[in-house]
Amino acid sequence: MNQDARKRAVARAALEFVVPGELVGVGTGSTANAFIEALATVKGRIDGAVASSDASAARLAGHGIRVVDLNTAGELPVYVDGADEATRHRHLVKGGGGALTREKIVAAAARTFVCIVDDSKMVDRLGRFPLPIEVIPMARSLVARALVRLGGRPERRTGFVTDNGNEILDVHGLDILDPPTLETDLNQLAGAVTNGLFARRGADVVLVGTGEGVRRI
Ligand code: A5P
Repeated sequence: MNQDARKRAVARAALEFVVPGELVGVGTGSTANAFIEALATVKGRIDGAVASSDASAARLAGHGIRVVDLNTAGELPVYVDGADEATRHRHLVKGGGGALTREKIVAAAARTFVCIVDDSKMVDRLGRFPLPIEVIPMARSLVARALVRLGGRPERRTGFVTDNGNEILDVHGLDILDPPTLETDLNQLAGAVTNGLFARRGADVVLVGTGEGVRRI
């Protein structure tokens, strides 16, 4: 089974967590797109979706799925999204697609966060994938200097503006031994909007697409 087929398989498996008649939180990226395709097959059974990016909102609407603003949605039963890296402790690095802030918000609004990945995303320790940090544009250099002091090598994601009008620093070289503590420390940096560590509120379930089928962590 190739990588795309593994993504489609975990996306289909995540439908099990969708609550009939309720809203669904929907993430961003190619695996989340596979979930949107799967969700479209059961769209008559859901109330609608809350999207974590403009791109996912457009894709949901294109499938005829009602897109609801989080402010009117309230608490969500479930949020389904991919990740750039995941551990067996269900800690994640996210934000490769630059949607990390809205992803963290929708995840925080959900009772259950189901992360869907293919097995290439599973790691023993987070940090091989550069850690994305969304920054207020005027604070980019300030935050970058602080990240260097923490041992990272921040790179500006050129030509990219987030849905919130901000910039992304991709931080290379971080050896992330204690994800919740680093996430907390990065949250303290003035000018950093969101970091891509999802550890304080990690996934509740990780579905992993493998050559032998879908594994659940
Ligand atoms: C988007 O900002 C990310 O957090 C995605 O969830 C992550 O990059 C995974 O994307 P793919 O499913 O495309 O690998």
